[in-house]
Amino acid sequence: MTLPQAPWSQDLYLQALAFAARRHGAQAVPGTGFPYVTHLASVAQEVMAALAAEPGRDGSLAVTAALLHDVIEDTPTPAAEVESHFGPRVLAAVLALTKNPDLPKQDSMADSLCRILEQPPEVAMVKLADRSVNLGPPPGHWTPEKIAAYRAEAQQILDRLGAASPFLARRLAERIAGFGN
Ligand code: NI
Repeated sequence: MTLPQAPWSQDLYLQALAFAARRHGAQAVPGTGFPYVTHLASVAQEVMAALAAEPGRDGSLAVTAALLHDVIEDTPTPAAEVESHFGPRVLAAVLALTKNPDLPKQDSMADSLCRILEQPPEVAMVKLADRSVNLGPPPGHWTPEKIAAYRAEAQQILDRLGAASPFLARRLAERIAGFGN
């Protein structure tokens, strides 16, 4: 009898979590001060819920990209190191999820969304999950204008990427509706 398998590699999950924990080190989640891996594990959890609800995805690509999605943007980790540990598909996913620091801030999200759409849908799932997780209570010092701008940007993500995962699209829409209220 063949035992049922999880829709992602549990070993790869642990490897990616440990890699990300080492790389993000003492970084904290803005607003809460929690260790940064809390954010990464939360994004992975959203993706895993979607994988359970929407079978047929590459679950290992999705959870590995979820855990590593900020490792190039927010740490000095070389791209070649991500590739040597996790392969070219995961590297391509992480690079698409990384903002281009040479672009003006107002253009960097649209640019990243274009690059995400050129990737497998698992990469869009990570972005939808990331913004869902980031729509917790806004930091106390945020102005109403900043809150409105962050909500509008979340809507842009939902409009461009929502088709990749109806489950995560609905989740993000709910979080947008509740954000800052
Ligand atoms: Ni993130």
